[in-house]
Amino acid sequence: MGHDAGWLCDRRTFVKWAGVVAGSAVVGALGGCVADEAVTPADDGAADEVVPARASESATDAATDAASRQEAPQPETETEEAPMSETATAAVVYFSVTGNTEAVAEKIAAACGATPQAIEPAEPYSAADIDYNSDCRANVEQQDDLSIRPALAEPTPDVAGASTVFLGYPIWWGKVPRVVLTYVESGALAGKTVIPFCTSGSTGIAGSLSELEAADPSVNWQDGRRFESSVPETDIEAFVAPYAG
Ligand SMILES: Cc1cc2nc3c(=O)[nH]c(=O)nc-3n(C[C@H](O)[C@H](O)[C@H](O)COP(=O)(O)O)c2cc1C
Repeated sequence: MGHDAGWLCDRRTFVKWAGVVAGSAVVGALGGCVADEAVTPADDGAADEVVPARASESATDAATDAASRQEAPQPETETEEAPMSETATAAVVYFSVTGNTEAVAEKIAAACGATPQAIEPAEPYSAADIDYNSDCRANVEQQDDLSIRPALAEPTPDVAGASTVFLGYPIWWGKVPRVVLTYVESGALAGKTVIPFCTSGSTGIAGSLSELEAADPSVNWQDGRRFESSVPETDIEAFVAPYAG
């Protein structure tokens, strides 16, 4: 099995592993699983400024009307629509079934003045659906048929006014939950700077990033970070700071 012990192993080994450890106390029990608390967001200065929301459309409409009626010369400010950079605010979007990722999302949202928005599957995951010791729904989606894309409940998170998005999810079998891929593949994050974050028993975030990149290559994906749900606010503030205006 090599160095990918624990969650990055086959299901049989995982079941054995999961029977030995429980909850968040697993980290110390997994010599081969390295939590990547040290993985930090790319410090490349890519942070987008937080600026006021989109400019009023009425000004643009008025200019367009005047030009079409030829009552006045076409104003030089015709293209005064808000450029993308003027719509920059941070959004926090997450998927969570048992509350760990939600707890981190709430802390990130508090740190950047956003309201956390949940990705909700049209068919919510029951306890049986995530019972990884069985052939549960989550196991089928994450291991047996990776092409599954669970439908989303409406409304989906609205990040149209944000240029920077924090995207949170639990690690499921070393990967991004398929329902999160449904959201990313919808194009909702296209062209934005997205900072992934995750919670897990022990597995780091690095192995899940390639799936996100493939799901929407137009996104400016950052390296992201794994957190414990009990992460102190000071750590969250340091995580958010490079992306704040
Ligand atoms: C189906 C399933 C697969 C999981 N796979 C992993 C894994 O590969 N590595 C890991 O460290 N934890 C794994 N976990 C544990 C979750 O990542 C962890 O409990 C997470 O914090 C749950 O997030 P939530 O409370 O936001 O749903 C798995 C949990 C489930 C239900």
